[in-house]
Amino acid sequence: MWKNLLDWIEYRIPMMRVANMHAIQYPAPKNMNFWYVFGFLATIVLVNQILTGVWLTMNFVPTAEGAFASVEYIMREVEYGNVIRYMHSTGASAFFIVVYMHMFRGMIYGSYQKPRELLWLFGMFIYLALMAEAFMGYVLPWGQMSYWGAQVIVSLFGAIPVIGEDLTVWIQGDYVISGATLNRFFALHVIALPLVIVILVFLHIVALHEVGSNNPDGVEVKRPKGSLKEEEKTKFEMHEYYTKKYDIIDDVVPFFPHIVLKDLVAFSVFLFGFCYIMFFAPEMGGKFLEHPNFEIANPFKTPEHIFPVWYFTPFYAILKAVPDKLLGVIMMFFSIILLFLLPWIDRGKVKSWRYRCGFHKVNLLVFAGVFIFLGYLGGTPQAEWKIIASQILTVMYVMFFVLLFIYSKNEKTKPVPARITK
Ligand code: HEM
Repeated sequence: MWKNLLDWIEYRIPMMRVANMHAIQYPAPKNMNFWYVFGFLATIVLVNQILTGVWLTMNFVPTAEGAFASVEYIMREVEYGNVIRYMHSTGASAFFIVVYMHMFRGMIYGSYQKPRELLWLFGMFIYLALMAEAFMGYVLPWGQMSYWGAQVIVSLFGAIPVIGEDLTVWIQGDYVISGATLNRFFALHVIALPLVIVILVFLHIVALHEVGSNNPDGVEVKRPKGSLKEEEKTKFEMHEYYTKKYDIIDDVVPFFPHIVLKDLVAFSVFLFGFCYIMFFAPEMGGKFLEHPNFEIANPFKTPEHIFPVWYFTPFYAILKAVPDKLLGVIMMFFSIILLFLLPWIDRGKVKSWRYRCGFHKVNLLVFAGVFIFLGYLGGTPQAEWKIIASQILTVMYVMFFVLLFIYSKNEKTKPVPARITK
């Protein structure tokens, strides 16, 4: 009966065909390592955010009068309300940890290079949407940091010549940050942006599966039909969708069970870390939930220090490094645009850093260090030396891309193996 039911459905909607193509039989390179688990983890965190978000919405009151108290109500009165809230707030930080690792993986293995440029662009749009989503979510509890953080960020739009002031009023829905602002941020946070993110993630996966996964060796496993000799062809049973288009050599394994098992191991380790923070250190010393946010928003009292949450601080440091407000805003956006343009800035033919020149490795590691250090500077109280350090690091941030553009053209690379090495 069960089989009949499945056949009945399959005849009308290609459920098993899609599951086979995109999950069960998806041909995954056999050398996928530690760095390849973060896409799966990002998907898990996305599901966590949506589910816990729905439950939080059931008791949250999106008004300036009710928001703070409703969060307290969720924490104290709603059954398991504190667990749901901390799953959501810890999830927000976990999302960025996982996504930063995921992006860095793309950089070290050249996963943004041809033919994965569009996949990278979808990723970058996800990253932008994620930043907007996190920013608006942080405003909702209507604590001191919610209010003043929103004040700082929205006022940045005021620096735009001519339209700046009107734009600020339009975004706020009022002349100041108020209940009207909270209300629209709520609408965007709970429905508009999650919808955009889910659609983008769908497109991200479709784009990935069209061109196939890259791998730590950066050699393609999908070969156009007819490009391989008969004896070179795989013994792996592939879905006809793939066999029609490609000859795939013997370096892939079916996604299920091989990659699923690897991902589950990663998931269990991740779950330990996640639960530890959620149950024992949900504020993470004021990094995941900032201390001033336990006080209700007060437009007449500015907190001593205003910082965004840790995942925004590298860009905040870049903003602060430039003395002029408008130029600072431009510089901040420019630093993100550079990441968008990575597939065209890197003119190298070799993908993985394993086979690229030594300088490329140094350049990438320095870039990661610069990003982390900028994050530190943007998230701690200001000091004279920190402004100078932020300026130097901002220049170093840009230099990563400039140098990459220059040396990647005629880079001296190591010989790339024809097939995956192990
Ligand atoms: C909600 C956020 C995201 C989700 C759920 C997500 C999901 C995934 C998944 C499931 C994969 C395949 C598994 C893997 O390779 O890890 C993947 C691959 C990839 N993602 Fe994402 N992703 C997200 C954000 C991003 C961002 C922000 C970028 C970069 C700008 C990005 C760039 C890539 C690239 C280049 C690949 C292919 C990697 C390769 O084959 O080597 N992703 N993503």
